[in-house]
Amino acid sequence: MRLAERTSLLRPSPTMALDAKAKEMERAGRSVISFGVGEPDFDTPEPVKEAAIAALRAGRTKYTPVAGIPELRKAISERFLREQGTSYPEAGVVVTAGAKQALYEIFQVLLDAGDEVIVPAPYWVTYPDQIVLAGGKPVVVPAGIDRRFALTLADLEAAATERTRAVVLNSPQNPAGAVLDPSEVVRIAEWAAARGIALISDEVYGRLVYDGAEHRSPATASPAAREATIVVDAVSKTYAMTGWRIGWLLTADVKLAAAVANLQSQSTSNTNSIAQYAALAALTGDDSALPEMLRAFAARRDLMVEMLRRLPGFEVDVPRGAFYCFPRVRELLSAPPRGMRFESADALASHLLEETGVALVPGSGFGMPEYLRLSYATSEQRIRDGLSRVAKVLGA
Ligand SMILES: Cc1ncc(COP(=O)(O)O)c(C=O)c1O
Repeated sequence: MRLAERTSLLRPSPTMALDAKAKEMERAGRSVISFGVGEPDFDTPEPVKEAAIAALRAGRTKYTPVAGIPELRKAISERFLREQGTSYPEAGVVVTAGAKQALYEIFQVLLDAGDEVIVPAPYWVTYPDQIVLAGGKPVVVPAGIDRRFALTLADLEAAATERTRAVVLNSPQNPAGAVLDPSEVVRIAEWAAARGIALISDEVYGRLVYDGAEHRSPATASPAAREATIVVDAVSKTYAMTGWRIGWLLTADVKLAAAVANLQSQSTSNTNSIAQYAALAALTGDDSALPEMLRAFAARRDLMVEMLRRLPGFEVDVPRGAFYCFPRVRELLSAPPRGMRFESADALASHLLEETGVALVPGSGFGMPEYLRLSYATSEQRIRDGLSRVAKVLGA
């Protein structure tokens, strides 16, 4: 069949491609250690599961309002107020199938053909594709390891044009775990508000910060910044609920929220009703599983950073949020160990997967081709085993 032109814009997610290859090797009997996964390896907290079972038993199995059950929209609005001290109306909350759908819908309702969206790199793989699908143009602004992956207002000023409609902020960030300095967040938010540019703030890793780092939403900078900001969040990462598919957006612009809900009503309708009750329990529960998860992540991060730093030609920054390390391997590519030659970090990642069964994600999909991404949402034992294998192959 002849497919629509639009399909040529879609690229398979690079993380999924690697995952598929790793799974294929596993099926063939190879021992594979994957650092590719973007989800906590912990289980969903028990009270959340219980709430889902109770919802099921109570027959909460019918359509809900498209934008989500009122209790959940209220809990989302209240949680933001509790954590960030800024309130958004319940009418400005739309519950979506994960943060991914929220982002997709925001770009669809905001962008006209040729509108520009500033995307700091490294970026989460999905942003540019979703922007292009909505007819927009991603304008990529890089900030690598030399700058600790920290976007500044000066970067945005240099990239902005008449056509700039929005900026995507993601702090704590995937893939480098960088956390923007709160004072820079305020400067950026005030600048965007003054220029009438929307700030799409992806805060899915907002609770996953270490070493006393502070996650500050740009919505908190000023009343005008609150109006300019659309917050995107989800239960996915914070509560180990990636498979439940519950995310949301918060906006002060109820017209925008209504447009998103309309779009959703013509595509997926409400998100899964039972999962909405589970998310409600997660957001209104006692968060007691979180400190334990954070402690485990911090210990794994320290181990991973220490082991990566011993590898030849790896430059590693200590991530302060999320659960990823993003080492630069430029030096390894330009001066590889004796007898080895790698065209790119992609080639290096393929070689390591084939030789050692260790899966690392090349940085090209995140807009930074000289890097690799490793998730430390896996056990210390697997970090030790996996990186020992890599060290052996690289002669470290
Ligand atoms: C930065 C970022 N935003 C959004 C998402 C998507 O989250 P969800 O699973 O809630 O759709 C991810 C998932 O990896 C992510 O890393």
